[in-house]
Amino acid sequence: MIDEKIMVVDFGGQYNQLIARRIRQMSVYSEVVPYTISLDELRKDDVKGIVFTGGPNSVYLESSPKIDKEIFRLGKPILGICYGAQLLAYELGGSVAKAQESEYGNTRLFVEKSRLLRGVSPETDVFMSHTDYIDRIPEGAVLTSYTKRCPTGSFEDEKRKIYATQFHPEVEHTVEGQKILENFVLDICGCHQSFLKSSFIQDKIQEIREQIQDRKVLLALSGGVDSSVTAALLSKAIGKQLTCVFVNHGLLRKNEAEQVSSVFSHYDLNFIPVDASELFLERLKGVTDPETKRKIIGKTFIDVFKEEKEKLGTIDYLAQGTIYPDRIESGLGISATIKSHHNVGGLPKDIGFQGLIEPLDHLFKDEVREVGRELGLPSELVDRQPFPGPGLAIRIVGEVTREKIRIVQDADFIFREEIRKHHLQDRTSQYFAALSNMRSVGVMGDFRTYDYAVVLRAVETDDFMTAKASDLPPSFLAFVASRIVNEVKGVNRVLFDYTSKPPSTIELE
Ligand code: XMP
Repeated sequence: MIDEKIMVVDFGGQYNQLIARRIRQMSVYSEVVPYTISLDELRKDDVKGIVFTGGPNSVYLESSPKIDKEIFRLGKPILGICYGAQLLAYELGGSVAKAQESEYGNTRLFVEKSRLLRGVSPETDVFMSHTDYIDRIPEGAVLTSYTKRCPTGSFEDEKRKIYATQFHPEVEHTVEGQKILENFVLDICGCHQSFLKSSFIQDKIQEIREQIQDRKVLLALSGGVDSSVTAALLSKAIGKQLTCVFVNHGLLRKNEAEQVSSVFSHYDLNFIPVDASELFLERLKGVTDPETKRKIIGKTFIDVFKEEKEKLGTIDYLAQGTIYPDRIESGLGISATIKSHHNVGGLPKDIGFQGLIEPLDHLFKDEVREVGRELGLPSELVDRQPFPGPGLAIRIVGEVTREKIRIVQDADFIFREEIRKHHLQDRTSQYFAALSNMRSVGVMGDFRTYDYAVVLRAVETDDFMTAKASDLPPSFLAFVASRIVNEVKGVNRVLFDYTSKPPSTIELE
């Protein structure tokens, strides 16, 4: 049961999810909601505080997002950040002006007496990103900090429980940002730090049992973090009432199918591994267009899953490993970008179930991992890299063949092994080997070769919507290249992909 939360009201800024994450790091539940949310939602007792996020607009524009002024009568503490701070100033009788130049980047902040900034050094570095600035704070409020270029770094009105910062406390560059958010959430809003600390698992189990009772649940297990943790949690809650169907499409990483099978065959659930690799390969034969490949895989997956479902007789619920960012990406927040990725967990809802159960739909990825660890899942599953639903098919440019799958699996295995051995995991968010469709001439011993080129991809990213190539040492890459050409038959060249996203994407197809 979540009995306290901080609502992050989204005005379209790019760091909005990060605010919720920072608050959750304090073990306090936080949710991102659109600025069009009804006041009744915000009035509820479990809402202990509200954050207005940044956003790209100017408060003076007719079209810019605003909020019902009644919100100030709710008596809940409000923290406005950047645009949110300007909106507070504007709505409460202060004024906002346009600067000649934008202020962007790290700035020194001079701090005065303040409840929000209590414990923060008198001079501290903060991150600013704005053009408009607050030139007059509302009556009754006090100025609590400033920078050389910005007369209002922050202001507060304790009586009305209004707090505002022009800078972004949620980003890492604001050195004492977490302290400031803690002052708001723990001191000003008075939240207790009770979220997720093991109570999440107990509460969820209880909730699932009440919802499911003696009915049956089916889960499409992909072996990825989200569906694996969903399986482990459901198994604890309802044991054998859960059936997991694990469809091996033959496009998984090396040893992955065996690993997933060996972990889940020991769990208290019905585990049905289905090796459908022949069917997938057959349907992919001769297909080279990336979108067509994706569609074939998505459809085949549903066909196989449906067939298994038929065999099982009546099943009431479909379980899915949906997590919080998936919900945000499908239009919960206004700053969302919608992806149209195929996800093996993302089955259509109309395939004959009474209901849907998504026990992780309020958690961020790292929280899902934490729950997975607490449930005793092994690190190979819990700390797994993101892996696309269509699997290696979109890491093989052109037609998918058995030989190409073997090459990618082996090259990828070596790359991952060396990243781990060299302790480079922290320097890259996602890394893998892919196969270009290029063949070129090489020499091996006294012989000419005409073989494939493997592409190594390693990127750094927070949100996977933009990314840049990871900065891996050239000597390390040369070592991996040498291992791959020596150990993987059919490869005589290894290339490293330095392109950013955009204009490239992370996957090759
Ligand atoms: P792109 O290639 O679009 O990838 O830059 C962004 C992130 O999404 C993953 N990805 C997918 N995940 N189904 C998924 O579940 C898909 O069809 C899919 N395509 C890409 C990719 O691995 C990267 O993390």
